[in-house]
Amino acid sequence: MTAKDPVRPQIRSLDLSGITKVSMLGLGNGEVLPLWFGETDLATPPFIRDAATQALEDGKTFYTFARGIPKLRQGIADFLSRTTGTPIDMARVTVPGAAMLGVVSALQCVVESGDNIVIVSPIWPNIFQAAKIAGAEPRLVRLEEDWNGGRWRLDLEKLFDACDTRTKAFFLCSPGNPTGWMATAEEQKQILDFARRRGIAIISDEVYGTLIYDGTPHAPSLLSLAEPEDALFVIGSFSKPWAMTGWRIGWVVHPPSLETAFSVMAQANNTGSTHFAQYGALAALSPQGDSFRGQLLARCAKGMEVVSNFLGGQNRIRWLKPDGAFYGFLKVDGLSDSLKFAQDMVRQAKVGVSPGCAFSLGDPRDDSFLRICFAQDAGRLAEGLDRIAKAVGKI
Ligand SMILES: Cc1ncc(COP(=O)(O)O)c(C=O)c1O
Repeated sequence: MTAKDPVRPQIRSLDLSGITKVSMLGLGNGEVLPLWFGETDLATPPFIRDAATQALEDGKTFYTFARGIPKLRQGIADFLSRTTGTPIDMARVTVPGAAMLGVVSALQCVVESGDNIVIVSPIWPNIFQAAKIAGAEPRLVRLEEDWNGGRWRLDLEKLFDACDTRTKAFFLCSPGNPTGWMATAEEQKQILDFARRRGIAIISDEVYGTLIYDGTPHAPSLLSLAEPEDALFVIGSFSKPWAMTGWRIGWVVHPPSLETAFSVMAQANNTGSTHFAQYGALAALSPQGDSFRGQLLARCAKGMEVVSNFLGGQNRIRWLKPDGAFYGFLKVDGLSDSLKFAQDMVRQAKVGVSPGCAFSLGDPRDDSFLRICFAQDAGRLAEGLDRIAKAVGKI
């Protein structure tokens, strides 16, 4: 008799994301121009690196507050108060390590095996993978492509229809990865009203909240609509605005009544984020950090212009121009197997993109898309786009 497998079926059934299946073919190969990951080609600015180095020199190498050093939590609360225009108390801020761990902690708060999470898609795959790992069924509700209006649109009725009695949370990412879609305050309000009525939590991933192109300091944030005790978890990150992806540091804003829970979860998950790295993050919140964010935004705006100009000369590749974040989600006419195409491009065209299929759970509509990150040097980006165009020409 064979013994019962103690490993949960949800874990056995996990498969690598499409992004990994492509990038593992060329990561570290200097010939391949990488546009696949969600990060700029700029290294973290020196004043942030210096602050972390100094902290190391000063011996900040010990365990510290599991929810983050108080100065940093206060700094994040001030940053959010300043950029969203809504006062945020530091009691609501936890620095669990990476933003991704913030998503995991929020899921830990609400999900039991058999529950489901309703996620606006296309969406970064780590999110639905994390939901599965937590034991929840990820239910994806896809944004509509409005080619006449030139933007992605959320059908709120479809979103609400996807919920049942086992729905524990909405997962919204605005501005979105990979689409750059930005929810309006009105849409957020309707979602909040519905969630309150039905006892559903909202996990609002706002890691691209300040990477927007309309000149305002922050995209519409659920922080500005909700009461502190609403079941709302807002995720933020140092990774994107300050070019700190390798640091693994971000935050969650949660109800103040969950301070103890977040403290215990932080202890149990990783006993807090890296001590000296937190001093780098603190430096990022300084006026120098604001000026770096401005430079990075300008680099992204330039990248967006490069992609726009490129698409102007293409008849088989188009996009719904993003309102925020730094991705081009490019629709390629005639493409139906984005994974194979992206893998072939790494090997032959020497350019790395993410396949559209990575951003959903088998929705064929996403398979005609490719995602690129345009937060890059304009010349290299143009070269990458040229390589993509040549490969598309061969389909
Ligand atoms: C939508 C979204 N949420 C969360 C994250 C994770 O951020 P971090 O690097 O801080 O874990 C990313 C990173 O790509 C992302 O795109």
